[in-house]
Amino acid sequence: MTVSQTSLPAPFRKVASGKVRDLYECEEFPSCLLFVATDRISAYDVIMENGIPNKGKILTKISEFWFSLLKEKVQTHIVTSKWNEMPQVIQQHPELKDRCMLVKKFKILPIEAIVRGYLTGSAWKEYQTHGTVHGIQVPANMQEGEAFPEPLFTPSTKAAEGHDENIHPDRMSSIIGEDLAKQVAQTAVDLYKVARDYALQKGIIIADTKFEFGVDELTNKIVLVDEVLTPDSSRFWLAADYKVGASPDSFDKQFLRNWLTSNKLNGKPGVLLPEHIIQSTGKKYMDAYEMITGKNWSY
Ligand SMILES: Nc1ncnc2c1ncn2[C@@H]1O[C@H](COP(=O)(O)OP(=O)(O)OP(=O)(O)O)[C@@H](O)[C@H]1O
Ligand SMILES: [Mg+2]
Repeated sequence: MTVSQTSLPAPFRKVASGKVRDLYECEEFPSCLLFVATDRISAYDVIMENGIPNKGKILTKISEFWFSLLKEKVQTHIVTSKWNEMPQVIQQHPELKDRCMLVKKFKILPIEAIVRGYLTGSAWKEYQTHGTVHGIQVPANMQEGEAFPEPLFTPSTKAAEGHDENIHPDRMSSIIGEDLAKQVAQTAVDLYKVARDYALQKGIIIADTKFEFGVDELTNKIVLVDEVLTPDSSRFWLAADYKVGASPDSFDKQFLRNWLTSNKLNGKPGVLLPEHIIQSTGKKYMDAYEMITGKNWSY
């Protein structure tokens, strides 16, 4: 079954609906939020008409895996993602099983903490014209897709509408203050390195990723929130296919993006995906889960 939309009845209140996830509040757990990952898929910033069966579950399980690996290093927002630990009011909706996470609500820092291990995407575009990445000087004569000597912390603004803007870390300091900026930059790079090394052993290159952080207002320490190191928030490349001199799409979206561009449908609304694209893309998400966790998909 594919879950493309959710609409939980009272006492739940839908507070937001992103490209992939629906976000609920509930008076029974006022300090928490419930994230429900649907099977929606987007490409070129547009949501497709039909979803990818199980994608929301796979994203939830990948995020859950990383949160539990990274919690040694940073406080996280997870209350639980285990079905049998969810409040009764949630368990009354079996369609949410394995695709939801109960998290603690935090004040969210208005920046995206991007870490780049490899020169690709918007960073490669900027590098070609200016020789910099988010205004940061990087080595000359780098090729597309090449690894940086050290991962780069490259934040962006978090635009309510339209596109996020790549900014220099100094500008982030002026937005969130020096103390938090230091914590974010340091933690994001640390977390990226742990994940990069782990994933590489499993045959996946995490070319770049985006973390979000909240602030624990009691301690003024940052908290890892949102989703972590999923194919939706990161660029995953198969290590076996890696070669310098190219910028492949993240491997999960390759079939979809190729199909869209070859049919001149990229960026168009209301696209209905054919069965073979649904199947091949679903398989890629499953591969990502199985490679990273080392487990067979069983949900
Ligand atoms: N623990 C938390 N407390 C409060 N807000 C959170 C927490 N974790 C994540 N958020 C916020 O919840 C929202 C989740 O939205 P979501 O990512 O689904 O959609 P979006 O960011 O609007 O769009 P997109 O689909 O492009 O990512 C984000 O604004 C994120 O910052
Ligand atoms: Mg988001």
